[in-house]
Amino acid sequence: MDSIASIILAAGQGTRMKSSIPKALHSVAGRPMLSYPIELAKSLGIERKIVVVGRQADRIKKEFCSHDNEIIYAYQEKQLGTAHAVQQAESYLLDFTGIILVLYTDVPLLRVSTIKKLIGCHRKYKSSCTLLTSNIEQAEGYGRIIRDKEDEINGIVEQRDLTEGQKQIKEINVGIYCFNARELFEALKIVDKDNYQGEYYLTDVVKILLEKGCTVKTLAVQDEKEIMGINTRMDLSHVSRILYQRNVDEHMKNGVTIIDRNNTYIDSQVKIDQDTIIFPYTFITSGSEVGKFCNIGPYSHIINSYIGEGTRIYSSIVEKSRVGNYVNIGPYSHLRPASIIGDEVRIGNYVEAKQAFIDKGSKVGHLTYLGDAKLGKNVNIGAGTITCNYDGEKKNPTIVGDGAFIGSNNSLVAPVTIGKNSYTAAGSTITQDVPAANLGIARSRQKNIEGWAKKRKKPKSK
Ligand code: UD1
Ligand code: CA
Repeated sequence: MDSIASIILAAGQGTRMKSSIPKALHSVAGRPMLSYPIELAKSLGIERKIVVVGRQADRIKKEFCSHDNEIIYAYQEKQLGTAHAVQQAESYLLDFTGIILVLYTDVPLLRVSTIKKLIGCHRKYKSSCTLLTSNIEQAEGYGRIIRDKEDEINGIVEQRDLTEGQKQIKEINVGIYCFNARELFEALKIVDKDNYQGEYYLTDVVKILLEKGCTVKTLAVQDEKEIMGINTRMDLSHVSRILYQRNVDEHMKNGVTIIDRNNTYIDSQVKIDQDTIIFPYTFITSGSEVGKFCNIGPYSHIINSYIGEGTRIYSSIVEKSRVGNYVNIGPYSHLRPASIIGDEVRIGNYVEAKQAFIDKGSKVGHLTYLGDAKLGKNVNIGAGTITCNYDGEKKNPTIVGDGAFIGSNNSLVAPVTIGKNSYTAAGSTITQDVPAANLGIARSRQKNIEGWAKKRKKPKSK
């Protein structure tokens, strides 16, 4: 079977976004727009993926290279049209004789199943080109499909080049194509810019192929939503909403309870296990994983984190952290990046942790800051305890051994180690290590002054 390479066009200006950020990097349901065609190509098993970039190419490369070195970038210096853009990928495909799948950056709702059908159709008829079309009410702005008496495609005419009669056509060119590689690059050599916009149109390749007597087929997309493109901020919001709902529906199909489908924001590329309940106003970002039997939300934000099974997170934020099984967090707590929380830990109200390792069964109930701290098993941290981890120059560690009991309102001045099964007295400022099974007490002794209240009383003035 013919192998497939993909060319993703991402060099357009995206002027209607009114943005200094390239369109490809605008976030759609938590993922940069360009990641959608890339993921689509990946799920089709396409190895060669060439992205054509133009404006702010370096910024796009930087964003994607960090986690994807499979992508090849072709550079289009001037945006002279879609045909010219595809041509920029040719030098990376000189040896390639299979099928070329052309994708756009800005159609993130496109389903893998649709593209599979497109490829299937292309192979079945051994076509030179197969393209997606759709019949839509608002055809304005799109290239229209011109058909002959036998109802076969005859060409594509862009909006601005339409005759009065052609303006009535409702069948549009979606902009997604399969081409026979060699025939595509041959045809591209002939494309001119003899049109209203003075651009090299990829759609002209269809006409050239037909004139040569090659087979060109179309495949109609049934679900109009799938082909919705993003050109403005309004489109961005609209498409994001559809994607969020699609994601939520997918999780429900897999056995997750979502209380309010309209007010739950689960990015693409999130895993949630069965029988977990997601309460409203919860955001779960891309790359996160949530185990089974969890209760997440309401009002929670899980950012790129791993949550084990049976864990409850209530009105809290978990950021780039790992939380174990049967943990309770919240309300109003914040796990900052690089925190690792063991099984059966309890983190209560108003707790902030940063780069904290908290081992199994420990309790951090109330109003606490743990920064660069390592807590053993079954530690108890009293209310209002803070680790003084920053000395103005560097961050220092606090280590608390298994079974230790930190009294309320302690300041643990790092670097400091509290030994296993030791205690610290309430209100202590601990500046020295406390050996195992000792009591550390660091506060001035209380003195009671007898009769003081009586002496304080001033005689009443007349
Ligand atoms: C294109 C099609 C049109 C179709 C529509 C669907 C052509 C000539 N027309 O029109 O038939 O109905 O898409 O949305 O192809 N791009 C580049 N370099 C360029 C120009 C564009 O990389 O020089 C990229 C853009 O980033 C975008 C894609 O190509 O991802 C489409 O470009 P755009 O200008 O939006 O094409 P349309 O005029 O919408
Ligand atoms: Ca467009």
